[in-house]
Amino acid sequence: MDIIADPHALKRRLRAQEGRIGFVPTMGALHAGHLSLVDEAKQRSDFVVASIFVNPKQFGPNEDLDRYPRDLEGDAKLLAERGCDLVFAPTADVVYPPGFSTLVRVDHVTEGLCGAHRPGHFDGVTTIVLCLFEIVRPDVAVFGEKDYQQLATIRTMARDLFLDVEIVGGPIVREPDGLAMSSRNRYLSADEHHRALALHRALFAARDHRRETADKPTLLATARTILTEAGVDPEYLELRDATTLAEVEDASGPTVMLVAARVGATRLIDNVRIDP
Ligand code: PAF
Repeated sequence: MDIIADPHALKRRLRAQEGRIGFVPTMGALHAGHLSLVDEAKQRSDFVVASIFVNPKQFGPNEDLDRYPRDLEGDAKLLAERGCDLVFAPTADVVYPPGFSTLVRVDHVTEGLCGAHRPGHFDGVTTIVLCLFEIVRPDVAVFGEKDYQQLATIRTMARDLFLDVEIVGGPIVREPDGLAMSSRNRYLSADEHHRALALHRALFAARDHRRETADKPTLLATARTILTEAGVDPEYLELRDATTLAEVEDASGPTVMLVAARVGATRLIDNVRIDP
C-alpha cells in the first residue's frame, strides 16, 4: 500500500486508476470505527483511498489540535491490513499554502448542535472535504454516522454543488460496553470512561421509550435523567429530523436524538435514530 503526501502526485496516480474509487477521509488515530468505513468502501468500489490529515481549519482556538493523537505508521499498518489500496497523508503547509483563501460554507444544517458550540468547525470540514474530493475524485465516499451533523452537512454540500460522488454513512461502531468509538476516547481516565457510558445509555433508553410515546419532552427527559444521574451535563441533547436536522415537534417521523457532553476535559458526541 503506497502512502502519498503530494496532492499533485496523487492526482496523477488516481487519474490513471481504473474502476470505481472509494474514499475514506480520516484524521488518523484510527480505530475499529474507521476500519469499518474501509470495509464499506471496499464493498462499493474497486480501489480504496484513505486520507489521514489532521485538518487545522476545523479546530477552534481552544480545541485539541496540538494534542490530537497522531500515529501515521500505526494507522498505515491498520489500513494496509484492512485492504486499503492507497493512503493520502499530506502536510498542512501543502494543503494550505500561504495565500490559501477559500472557505466552503454550508448553511442551515450546520446551525445548532455542534455548529453552535464549535464556531467555524463545519466550514473547516467542508473546505477540506471538497478539497480532498477534488484531489481524489472518488465515486463513493464513506463517513461515520457518529458525526451525524457532519454527514448531513457533506450530503448537503454534495447535493448543492452537484458533486459526482455518492456519500455513504457507516454505522456507529461501539466498544463492547456501548461507548461509541472515537479517537478522543483515549483521553478518558477509567472513571471518565465509566461516566461516558451514560451517553449511549441515555440515547438507547429514549429510543426504547419511543415504543410507548412520541412526545418530545418525555423522550428528552428520559435521556436527561440518565445523564444527570451519572453526573454528565450535556452541551446539547436534542431531537431532530433525521435528514435535515431541522427541529421537530415530536418523534412521529424519522428522527434522531443527538448528544454532546464534556466528560472531564474530553468532548464526546453520540446519536441514535428514534424512528417510528
Ligand atoms: O470526520 C473526520 O475525521 C474529519 O472531520 C474529516 C471528515 C476527515 C475532515 O477532516
